[in-house]
Amino acid sequence: MQTSSPFNPVSPGAHDISTLFIVTLIVAAVIFSLVTGLVLFASYRYRQKEGEGEPPQVYGHRGLEITWTVIPGLILIFLFILTLITMHKSDPTASPGTKADLVIIAHQWWWELRYPQAGVVSANEIHIPVGKKLYTLIESADVIHSFWVPQLGRKMDAIPGHPNHIWLESDKPGLFLGTCSEYCGAQHAWMRIRVIAQPEAEYNAWLADHQKLPVFPTKGEAAKGLQVFEEQTCINCHSIAGVSSNISIGPDLTHLASRKTLGTGILDNTPAGLTRWLKNPQAVKPGINMPYMKLDDKQIKELVAFLETLK
Ligand code: CUA
Repeated sequence: MQTSSPFNPVSPGAHDISTLFIVTLIVAAVIFSLVTGLVLFASYRYRQKEGEGEPPQVYGHRGLEITWTVIPGLILIFLFILTLITMHKSDPTASPGTKADLVIIAHQWWWELRYPQAGVVSANEIHIPVGKKLYTLIESADVIHSFWVPQLGRKMDAIPGHPNHIWLESDKPGLFLGTCSEYCGAQHAWMRIRVIAQPEAEYNAWLADHQKLPVFPTKGEAAKGLQVFEEQTCINCHSIAGVSSNISIGPDLTHLASRKTLGTGILDNTPAGLTRWLKNPQAVKPGINMPYMKLDDKQIKELVAFLETLK
């Protein structure tokens, strides 16, 4: 099973954050044990014994009060400095003029992905090269969302009209999971993130594939599917480079067939999954912008055949 635990960091930034968390946890655990230990000890050692009267009453103790103010103060200063160092290390300021390698735009309820330097557009499944820091802008097209892949570092809010940034990086190849971490409406729970970290050559091959247009079918069921796509308003919301472009009301579908999931993680991207989705997306993910299109079985079959060609 694929985990997404912050205890298993795979980027330098995530490492720093994880270390800070563990240090803080240890400090807190020591304080907790000390306090509960002393309470238990005192209530046993000084419990009321038979025949004893009221114990001597003490009011105020300067030495003790200074001690229990200064020690917690020092602990807080220590943790504060450690936190500042971690913030600085895990999220360095970008030098002015740094160009974004990746722009992630949150939508209700999916992620638009743009690689401006390569001219690649995709959705939901983020490919990154191993060992390289991607300067990544986090934006929102509608409400506040939050981007978080625990193994790869800090959480970042997606605020409409205010681009934030993170450095997206992985030390090793693999699939790293995340999810939208700010409640953003009915399908917040189905706003999953998949980050696929690949060796650089593989990543470059992925980019090159995505720069190309898919080979469009010219005959058979798939060609009919392309026609359905153009006739049935699909084209108003979804981009397919070469067919319709620069529309991002719904996810870009240019290379849909190369993605593993549909509906931002709710279904596997298989002909069966696609069929279910096209039959009635509102039944799979109620509340999303994609309407129930009332397509008949033949249209769905043709559309599935066409979408499967979008490698
Ligand atoms: Cu997007 Cu929660």
